[in-house]
Amino acid sequence: MKPTGRSAGTASGALLTVFLLGGLAFAHSGATGIVKERMETMKAIGTEMKTIASMVRGRVDFEAETMERSALQLESHAREIPELFPPDTNAAPSEALAGIWTDWDRFTDIARELEESAAGLAANAGAANDAEAIAGEFRAISETCRSCHESFRKAK
Ligand code: HEC
Repeated sequence: MKPTGRSAGTASGALLTVFLLGGLAFAHSGATGIVKERMETMKAIGTEMKTIASMVRGRVDFEAETMERSALQLESHAREIPELFPPDTNAAPSEALAGIWTDWDRFTDIARELEESAAGLAANAGAANDAEAIAGEFRAISETCRSCHESFRKAK
């Protein structure tokens, strides 16, 4: 991979890790019910992040409308996170950690941070002329993925 020298470089690196881990997770099957539903929501979150990241990295042209649409999708998926984790639903093949339910406030705080940063991105995307203008929001969003997975998702 080429070094980018962009301000979003670090966030992109962290994001890449998220995608790689997510990619491995796609290999597991047999999930049913709420676990399946939550994995699908997380995958959808990953898809929106890919769309946003490819613009931030300059792989595709910046398009305010696409950016805004993806951010709104992220926001609404983030809002669903708490209800996708009813108590003690972390039997295999789920990768959720039991700490979610013993540290519920922190878990839902991170979900809310994702929701708020995505809302901020959506609000600013329309007026932005390039990805630099929303790099801060992008970093804040990436940080929520990283910190939640680090604390609440099984390490590979
Ligand atoms: C509030 C916590 C939280 C946040 C925020 C969060 N995730 Fe997750 N994510 C999880 C947990 C927990 C799992 C494991 C779920 C399971 O296996 O039951 C997961 C799983 C995933 C998976 C694997 C899905 C599968 O098929 O198994 C992907 C991909 C993913 N997250 C992407 C993201 C991205 C990208 C972001 C940031 C935009 C993000 N997540 C934000 C908690 C979070």
